[in-house]
Amino acid sequence: MKRLGILLSGRGSNFEAIADSVAAGRIHAAIAVVISNRPEARGLESAAQRGLNAVLLPSKGLDREIYDRSVVAELRRNRVDLVCLAGYMRLLSAWFVREYPSRILNIHPSLLPGFPGLDAQHQALEYGVKVSGCTVHFVDEYLDAGPIIAQAVVPVLDSDNADTLSARILEQEHRIYTEAINIVLAGNYRIEGRRVLPAGR
Ligand code: GRF
Repeated sequence: MKRLGILLSGRGSNFEAIADSVAAGRIHAAIAVVISNRPEARGLESAAQRGLNAVLLPSKGLDREIYDRSVVAELRRNRVDLVCLAGYMRLLSAWFVREYPSRILNIHPSLLPGFPGLDAQHQALEYGVKVSGCTVHFVDEYLDAGPIIAQAVVPVLDSDNADTLSARILEQEHRIYTEAINIVLAGNYRIEGRRVLPAGR
């Protein structure tokens, strides 16, 4: 059985959705470790409550690559096959990315390449787009930039504020992260340029 490593920094609702999918047999993998770089992350507490291996590796004040080496050491110790970033608020070093080629996923609350970075939902509202959504993509060393595995679209309503739009997007995040993990675990895809396509077609 493949082993997942989850990295998070905060609330952890995407982690919980993944854990629920694992528990329900919608994802055939085990969660080997949940790592938080922030002590106050609610997701860390929730992982511990679920009886999972919850590890705090504080990143504050540490050089990016030095910190990433400690994270990768923890992932290795737990024999992780696939790394899922779930609200992990740090850029990965190029070194980290090379350690897990096409084996790191991220979820972002916009239709990339629109609105990368922080406060994507707020950015979308300010820009005035009529639809937004979320994206699961492979991680490279750039911000919110790797090949796209799955996306979902939601409407932006005239009455929306950042909270209502975020909630609508979040529901879709929880759905497509499981979908994307299953695509990658099944391994029947190929990456052609930036396109993630079904294998053998
Ligand atoms: C989500 O909106 C995710 O797309 C973004 O950070 C947020 C994390 O939320 N990368 P949660 O911690 O998973 O609840």
